[in-house]
Amino acid sequence: MEELPNFQLFCGIGLAASILACSYAASRPHPLDHIPTVGSPGLLGSYWSAVKYISNAIDIVQQGFNKYKTDAFRVSTMHGWIVYLNPSHLEEVMKLPTDVMSFELVLDDMVRMEYTFGSQISHHHYNLTIIRTRLTRNLSVLLPGIKDEMVATLDGLLDMKPNEWKSIPVVDYSRTITASILNRTVVRLPLCRDPDWVNFTVQSTMDAIKEGVMLGGVPDFLLTLSAKFITTTSSRLRRGVKHLDPIIKERLRCMQAYGEKWTDRPFDVLQWFMDDENETTTPLLTARILFFIFGGMISTSIVLAKVLCFLATNPQCVQPLREEVEMVIDEHGWTREGIAQMRRVDSFIKETLRFDGSAAFGVQRKTTKDVTLSDGTFLPQGTHVAVPAYAIEHDHHNYENPFSFEPFRFVDLQDKCGDLSKYQLTSVSHDSLMFGFGKSACPGRFLASMTLKALLAYIVVTYDLKPGKDFPDSQKLAGVILTRPSAKLLFRKRMD
Ligand code: HEM
Repeated sequence: MEELPNFQLFCGIGLAASILACSYAASRPHPLDHIPTVGSPGLLGSYWSAVKYISNAIDIVQQGFNKYKTDAFRVSTMHGWIVYLNPSHLEEVMKLPTDVMSFELVLDDMVRMEYTFGSQISHHHYNLTIIRTRLTRNLSVLLPGIKDEMVATLDGLLDMKPNEWKSIPVVDYSRTITASILNRTVVRLPLCRDPDWVNFTVQSTMDAIKEGVMLGGVPDFLLTLSAKFITTTSSRLRRGVKHLDPIIKERLRCMQAYGEKWTDRPFDVLQWFMDDENETTTPLLTARILFFIFGGMISTSIVLAKVLCFLATNPQCVQPLREEVEMVIDEHGWTREGIAQMRRVDSFIKETLRFDGSAAFGVQRKTTKDVTLSDGTFLPQGTHVAVPAYAIEHDHHNYENPFSFEPFRFVDLQDKCGDLSKYQLTSVSHDSLMFGFGKSACPGRFLASMTLKALLAYIVVTYDLKPGKDFPDSQKLAGVILTRPSAKLLFRKRMD
């Protein structure tokens, strides 16, 4: 009971401090003053622009993109200025080393990893290595487990009688489905099917995001103190340890007893972390696993919710998707090769991401030293840069009829250029920025793409669905378009 007033007090202090910091910063000459501003000028104007950016970032950035086609522009936000680079800067910026144009620093500003997961996470980023190597190379081996988990989770959640429509909260269900499937790869059976663990990993991810966002508004000098009141990191870790401790202890015992000769060594992310021996205690491994799930679960579940909503509102796509999936599964079964052959499924998800999934900002980086681009644009150390991703993905120079949802757009583009390796869901390019760009482009996109394609393929051949309560389902918030938490879909066992 005592925690709430303290929590509110510190939120209040954090907000007041950030308003003061923002006003103070806006009243002084700024090293970015040479870059044109979108939004209202002056001290109050810039604060008002920052407030508007919370609900209206996509439109504000679109204005800048339309006005400053070939130049950079800046926008005031609650966390300071963001410099939006011109798309033509992208190649040059991405060639700079990652320690000069850092994604890690942006992530840290957004999530405050040191406080929401623990200090070893922010200093030791070997998640990336595991994802790029062992995870991505073994997707074919992991697929049967992912398929098995997908069927078990959907059958469990959508347990229904023939001809019965069931209303489901699409955002909640998408989180549970994604967390269960990801957990199969991370900790395997039986833990991945323990409802307490699955719910805990969803809740822990959502709490870490909420706490990270709150800490993001707190100035550096107040961080340590505020984190004590805002974060619940220790209790999260304690709850995670309860689940993982017996598993980790048993695995450590086997590793010591059998060493390399341990033949039925588990094939999952937890074991890969343990094999690397960077973290050997249960609390450290627990923080690592929770951080891994945090990175993989939330974006995939956001996309899944959108894909299901677009499927429900575009019933004309169901038959062509069913035909493709049934033909491919007949020939290849549920294999990685089969999933790769599902071009319409791939295009449907990619178009959903292009149309509704890109944020106002994409490819965010922070400069760790002064940088001058070849056209003279000067970016002082500490500048937060981004590219106007939503505007680029809706630019008619890049896509015909960019504001119309054309589910098989990318199949047509592939056919036109005669190259099936282009325009795939996992491809990143100047006009396809949903997974970022360059050296820090999302390393988990191959797993995410395989999982989402398997889910859409299975759902479309197994269920009928239609929109339920709270459609249209999208809402704009802080530069992204999200499915309303209240949105419902109606599911029924397929009738024909
Ligand atoms: C549809 C689902 C997903 C989307 C839309 C997505 C999107 C992104 C984006 C936009 C970035 C930043 C890239 C950049 O700025 O260049 C990123 C980074 C990252 N993603 Fe994903 N992601 C998804 C799924 C996943 C999954 C399943 C995993 C893990 C298994 C993952 C792990 C990561 C990691 C570790 C990074 C940081 C890369 C770095 O620091 O260099 N993501 N993701």
